[in-house]
Amino acid sequence: MSVKIWSYKNFLIHEFELLSSTNSYAFELADLRKILDCEVILAHSQDAGKGRQGRSWSSPKGNLYFSLVLRPKISPAKISQISLLAIVALRNAIANLFTRHDPLRLKWPNDLLIEQKKCAGLLLESKLNGNEIEFLVIGIGLNIDSNPENTIFPSTNLKNFGITISPEETLKKILDEFQKSYQNYLDFGFAGVRKSWLNHAYGYLEKITVSFGKERISGIFINLDEDGNLLLQLDEGKVIKVSAADVS
Ligand code: BTN
Repeated sequence: MSVKIWSYKNFLIHEFELLSSTNSYAFELADLRKILDCEVILAHSQDAGKGRQGRSWSSPKGNLYFSLVLRPKISPAKISQISLLAIVALRNAIANLFTRHDPLRLKWPNDLLIEQKKCAGLLLESKLNGNEIEFLVIGIGLNIDSNPENTIFPSTNLKNFGITISPEETLKKILDEFQKSYQNYLDFGFAGVRKSWLNHAYGYLEKITVSFGKERISGIFINLDEDGNLLLQLDEGKVIKVSAADVS
């Protein structure tokens, strides 16, 4: 397993041709303290890429697969704020590649859509020590060159929109945005992230359906709370908090 190590701004990148999963490998190295804060595991392909809710993530060469390790000194209750921040940073990094209009939307909790089709997802894993975060692994998969067929939610890739960019260049753009937003978050808190997230949200103030396994509930998506939960207003007016589900 040969690795190329390079740095970009505050980040140290460990680049591999093939890994099982950048998240699994980053978790293993972070746990052994072989990687510290702001280190990235990048792979050109994965043969056991992981998605949310135990799903797999198709990972052929040509797309971007990376995991960023952070050791933030914040409460574990704020972990979902960091994942919302990371998906907003990804959105902002990609947005200026679209020259004519901005077709990008964020689908709760952590998907990036282009014209209502998924082009990226984020899987955050963490290790806690009592009420402290030992480390976070923020894994992002972005379809640049191809996307899987027959997914539950339709998917797409950047090439379909005439965009050609390498995974490495895209990673640098994402890290630029992440660094700015993360510093802003550490200095000023979650309000700016929530605002940017809601400004680009798919289904915000509209009727959406959320599913938890076989159960489905419909309501108006009225807000995101401080912990990144989705607030759904049901037909009878009651507001429920959704912390883990799929939105359709
Ligand atoms: C989702 O289900 O939407 C989340 C997908 C996350 C995929 C990325 S690819 C890089 C990192 N390594 C993994 O095994 N998964 C994440």
